[in-house]
Amino acid sequence: MTAIAGPAFSGRTSRLAHRLIDDGQGVWGVHDRACEMAARDEPVCLLSVGDPDLPTLPSTIDAAIDSLERGRTHYAPGRGELSLRRTIAAIEANASDKPCDPDEIVIFPGATNAIYSVLACLVDPGEDVVVAEPMYVGYDGLFRALGINAVTFPLEAAAGFALDVAAVQVAVTPATRVLLLNTPGNPAGNMITPAQLCALAAWCRERDIWLVSDEVYSMITFEQPHTSLRKAAKALDNVVVIDGLSKSHAMTGWRLGWTVSSLALADRLLEFTSATLFGCCQFVQDAAVHALTNDEDYIAGVRDEYRRRRDYVCQRIAGIPGLNCEVPAAGMFVMVDVAGTGLDGLAFAEALLDQGQVSVLPGAGFGASCRNYVRISLTLSVAAMASAFDRIEAFVATLECKPRE
Ligand SMILES: Cc1ncc(COP(=O)(O)O)c(C=O)c1O
Repeated sequence: MTAIAGPAFSGRTSRLAHRLIDDGQGVWGVHDRACEMAARDEPVCLLSVGDPDLPTLPSTIDAAIDSLERGRTHYAPGRGELSLRRTIAAIEANASDKPCDPDEIVIFPGATNAIYSVLACLVDPGEDVVVAEPMYVGYDGLFRALGINAVTFPLEAAAGFALDVAAVQVAVTPATRVLLLNTPGNPAGNMITPAQLCALAAWCRERDIWLVSDEVYSMITFEQPHTSLRKAAKALDNVVVIDGLSKSHAMTGWRLGWTVSSLALADRLLEFTSATLFGCCQFVQDAAVHALTNDEDYIAGVRDEYRRRRDYVCQRIAGIPGLNCEVPAAGMFVMVDVAGTGLDGLAFAEALLDQGQVSVLPGAGFGASCRNYVRISLTLSVAAMASAFDRIEAFVATLECKPRE
């Protein structure tokens, strides 16, 4: 290589890029290590990530292939294909008992990008988003990317991680632009009641605050059906609902999510997504129409399967001294309090992977208050879960556990 004259290239990257550098908390370290073990064909049980092991509905795959064969491989409208927006609008209108215009829907490549786009359009750098702790581990990166501050309110474990409206109100500051809710919640599987959603929507509206509800687990509920913020709220102009196909339809890799908002905000989102994405795959959107219109039996099966797994996991945890959990009402996860083992969540997860070859997610990823927890994903069949729990039980038996109170 010939030497180039002049000053060395600095390789400088932006402040945003620096804000996203992993702060070394090690939350994903256990999972990453487990994936490396799996790649070496070691018999590791992966319970650390929320990627459903269930297959996408086969006819949805056929719909995508058919769409590809019909040449649906070009740019799509920025707001999303009208056929998909009509399908979602009909579902939303039915679920909320309120009309929904297809132009109030904007399609994104996954809920993550939908949340990012919504926050980018609603919050300026330095302003606040109020969000629950424990909170979905993926929110933190979005806040950092946007340079916005997260102000948290607690979901108390002793209250089954139920939301307390008064605690939310205390967290709101003059710099709060958005209250971000997640119902059903990841990681705790808690559900916000319709009355609470209604009260918060009105309270936020009076204070000129947007209320954004991430509802990607809306179809995975075990006792009560989900009530959307859109159904609960009386006025909809400050309300945004985000949903997607990753969890309910086991379609994480397809990248398909959406927002439902006022037309005015949908227009801003259209401009933002046109500038940053220029549309989503046509064939994925065609497959999404199929998925959403042929899913009654599929979703019932998904729900039954996760309920079976939840019941099994909670029953096994109840039989292991040192472990405690709340039974989640929804979602794909169980939060396990490991304080009784004498280890915090990170040490527990590291040692369980080393000694038992089971990977779980350390609770610190959901906020400092969860450092004595690990999150177990319900992403293995009951038979496979039985073997994972035999290993967990054997591992915990090696620890000096305090007796259960
Ligand atoms: C609460 C919550 N919101 C959003 C997402 C991201 O969903 P998507 O795959 O559609 O980006 C997840 C994924 O785990 C989640 O748990």
